[in-house]
Parts: sequence; structure tokens; C-alpha cells
Amino acid sequence: MIRRMVSETRLNIEDFIFPLFVVSGDNIKEPIPSMPGIYRYSSDLLIEEMAICQTLGINSFALFPAIDDALKDKYASESYDPDGLYLQAISQIKKQLPEVCLMTDVAMDPYSSDGHDGIVEDGMILNDETIEVLEKMALAQAKAGADIIGPSDMMDGRVWHLRDALDAEGYRSVSIMSYTAKYASAFYGPFRDALSSAPKEGDKKTYQMDPCNCKEALIEAELDEAEGADFLMVKPALAYLDVISLLDSNFDLPIAAYNVSGEYAMIKAAAEKGWLDGQQAMVESLISIKRAGARVILSYFAKEYAELSQ
Ligand code: PBG
Repeated sequence: MIRRMVSETRLNIEDFIFPLFVVSGDNIKEPIPSMPGIYRYSSDLLIEEMAICQTLGINSFALFPAIDDALKDKYASESYDPDGLYLQAISQIKKQLPEVCLMTDVAMDPYSSDGHDGIVEDGMILNDETIEVLEKMALAQAKAGADIIGPSDMMDGRVWHLRDALDAEGYRSVSIMSYTAKYASAFYGPFRDALSSAPKEGDKKTYQMDPCNCKEALIEAELDEAEGADFLMVKPALAYLDVISLLDSNFDLPIAAYNVSGEYAMIKAAAEKGWLDGQQAMVESLISIKRAGARVILSYFAKEYAELSQ
């Protein structure tokens, strides 16, 4: 009792954003082999799953689309087609579950035939041309009902451009959760399996951060704050707890952390082998993220943690 009373860190269900994957079709619930317990849902079943999560106390979700390869192109044009899978799913969710807080993803990779977050030309990413696509994408998502826009693309200057475009179109109350310190990480592997979005050539090191750098995160955070971000995110979470703590001590904006697919997969795989207690490892790692200074935690464990704490 006393130990509970003096405990410095408590997780609340309200801390979590639960990432979900949507796929086209009806009545589809496809397992993702490298993420046991996580599925790609068609919109109908996705909405049922979200309603179940709401009964467990989870009300915030991040949504990612698994797009047919045939619809991918160099310019991610599917991303702003109002009849496309993702935008349709957003509007249906907001129609059927209006209380949900929905974070959408702004980046080209789910729709890009190159598997990159930006436009590729001669092996280079075109920053400014990409931002034009991201603006169209973010506006279409806001129009469909997004509450929080999550630019995960890492182009320079995108937060300012997105804020400006959203304000100009009257979406002043749509928030931006910037992927501020997103590292070029091996821990994104299972997510790329889930979306079949791995880069066809090269890697993402020219636009994602070098894991060796910490001070660079401060520079990125200063820029994002000045450009109008409402949240600063660190990603991945567990290998970057020092970065979460650094940003939390230097900025007043809420810090979010993304407990990514590979961090989830590691615990699941070890637990399946009986090499560690999966539930305890889950709780301990979620607590470490909160203790480090994250106010918001994006985690594939959100539902399991909510079930555990019923
Ligand atoms: C890309 C994006 C990635 C994730 C979210 N958005 C991976 C990448 O940069 O390739 C990873 C999330 C996870 O691993 O859970 N825009």
C-alpha cells in the first residue's frame, strides 16, 4: 500500500494511442506474422475493434493503411484520393465513433512504389517537392475528420508548411504531432512487413536521424516547436529513453514516444519461447517510457495493457 502510494510513475489508459492497420475489403482480419496479436483489419472490422477498445478505456488511435501494390506510384497519388482506402476509413470511423481521437499518418511510404517517405529522383529524396504532396495528404485527412496529423516523413520544414496549409483551409483545431526525433532504426522491420513498405533501394538515413546523435534531437525539437507542432515525438522509444528525457527537460510541449513494432516483436518473440515473462516485460518497458518523460505513448501493447488493468 505504502509502496503504491509513493510510486513515482503510474500508467493510465489515457496515456496511450493504439496504432492500427487498415486494409481494403470486407470482413478481413489478417494476422501480421512478425507482430503476434496485431492484425490488418478491413474498415468494418476495424471499427468493431475500435469500439471494443473504447470499452476498455482506449479512445485514441493512430491509423496506417496497407495499400495494394497496384495502387502505389512514384508520387503517392493514392494518398489524397478522397475515394481511397485511407480517407474513406477515416470518415467512416469519425461517422460511426465520433468520440474517437484519431491520429493520421502523413508520409509517402505506404503509397510509394519506391517504398520511401518522399519523392525519389536519381537516388535522392526531393524535400520540397515532397512537402507539396504531404500538404495535399494532410488537408485531405483533416477534411475526412482527423484530429491529430502525424507527419512521420521527416522532410525539413514540413511542420510549418502543414500548419500553414491547415490554418489557411480552416482546420485550426487539428493538432500536429511531429515525429521530431525519428531515428533510422532497425526496429521498424515488422511495421514495414505489415504495410509491405520497405524501401526498394537504399535506406532512410538521409532523412531519419543517426542513432549516435542526441543534441541533434534538441535542434529538431526547437525547429518543430517554432514551426507550430503541438506534440514532440521520439521514435523508437526504448533504445532512446535518454532522448525522451532530454526533450522533456528542455521543452514544455507534451512529449510523445512511439514504442515501435520491433520493440513489440522482441518481447512477443521472447515470451513465445518462454524466455521471459511477456506481461511483466510489457509493463516494465511501458513504465520506463513514462518514467523517462513521455506524456503520450504510442504502443501496440495498448489493448493488452488495458485488458490487464481491467
Ligand atoms: C514511415 C513510418 C514508419 C513507422 C511509422 N511510420 C517506418 C519507417 O520509417 O519505415 C514505424 C512504426 C513502427 O515500427 O511501429 N513513415
